[in-house]
Amino acid sequence: VIHVAIHPSQFPDQVRADLLKSLRARAIQHKFHYESYKQAQKWLAVHEAHSPARNDSGCAAVYDEAFRWAAGKFQRADVCVIGLGCGGGHKDAALLGCLKTAGIRPVYSAVDVSLSLVIMARLRAAGFAESTTGLVCDLEMADGIQDQLCGCRAAQRVLTFFGMIPNSEPDVILPRLRKLLRRGDVLLMSANLAPGADYAAGVKRVLPQYDNAQTADWLLTFLYDVGVEPGDGKIDFSIEQGAADLLRIWADFEFQRARTVKLGDETVQFAAGERVRLFYSYRYTPERLKSVLAKFDFTISEQWITPSEEEGVFAVQA
Ligand SMILES: C[S@@+](CC[C@H](N)C(=O)[O-])C[C@H]1O[C@@H](n2cnc3c(N)ncnc32)[C@H](O)[C@@H]1O
Repeated sequence: VIHVAIHPSQFPDQVRADLLKSLRARAIQHKFHYESYKQAQKWLAVHEAHSPARNDSGCAAVYDEAFRWAAGKFQRADVCVIGLGCGGGHKDAALLGCLKTAGIRPVYSAVDVSLSLVIMARLRAAGFAESTTGLVCDLEMADGIQDQLCGCRAAQRVLTFFGMIPNSEPDVILPRLRKLLRRGDVLLMSANLAPGADYAAGVKRVLPQYDNAQTADWLLTFLYDVGVEPGDGKIDFSIEQGAADLLRIWADFEFQRARTVKLGDETVQFAAGERVRLFYSYRYTPERLKSVLAKFDFTISEQWITPSEEEGVFAVQA
């Protein structure tokens, strides 16, 4: 048995209210693509097939370098690693392994909206950490989680925020991330980047990592689970201008016939021709990330960019 803490932001009534809000707004919060066991499995398969972190040895090397840098920051043996949006925990486990090799005895706290992924990340970390804890919460809205982040008394903390900034509006997630940091914390974040000198061309180059049948199948799982049927419409992927001069890749579902979705005694109606925003992913460049972070009082102290320029790891200070 393992015990996992559940924050009120993921209590059933709140999740139901968020779900209705997403459907009515025709804009689905990203958390709804990871919540069920089925979605977590499908996302892990997409990640395995299309993420540079899993397929590009240059990418693994860059994370490794960042982790060795982080391990060198600590004099004391007790360090708490807090994986914010831990996913399957592959990167956090690699960081823990690196800390362990450096003689540190890390403890690990997995934080994610998906119970399934929190459990998987903890199991993956177990071989490298002295102990593990888990917190299920919605990082875009959870208040008062600072004291819940790490159950141990370790004075030194590493917070990881891997692959998280692309899927949230910067002005929603970054002030919240800022509040979670304590003096002396090490924050490592990673971002999907647009490769090359031509920003728009770089974003276009990585579009196939999203615009593929496996990613479509993962994203459509949400709609089919709320009662949309396969013949009701089609999914489209493209690129648009988002916040702060950033481009983002999006996926929309366009209804080709009317559909009524029922959630208990509530209904949401979709007419033929209506579109629902299922997903977006901001693509940064190191310079763009630096200027977005600066607006929220963060500075980049170190950065490690993959040879493909498609992903970067950043040590960030508040
Ligand atoms: C792109 S994945 C990154 C996972 C992992 N950090 C990695 O780099 O492989 C995004 C993760 O954020 C989680 N997530 C999405 N929305 C969230 C939210 N509002 N609050 C907390 N976690 C969220 C998902 O469940 C998923 O594990």
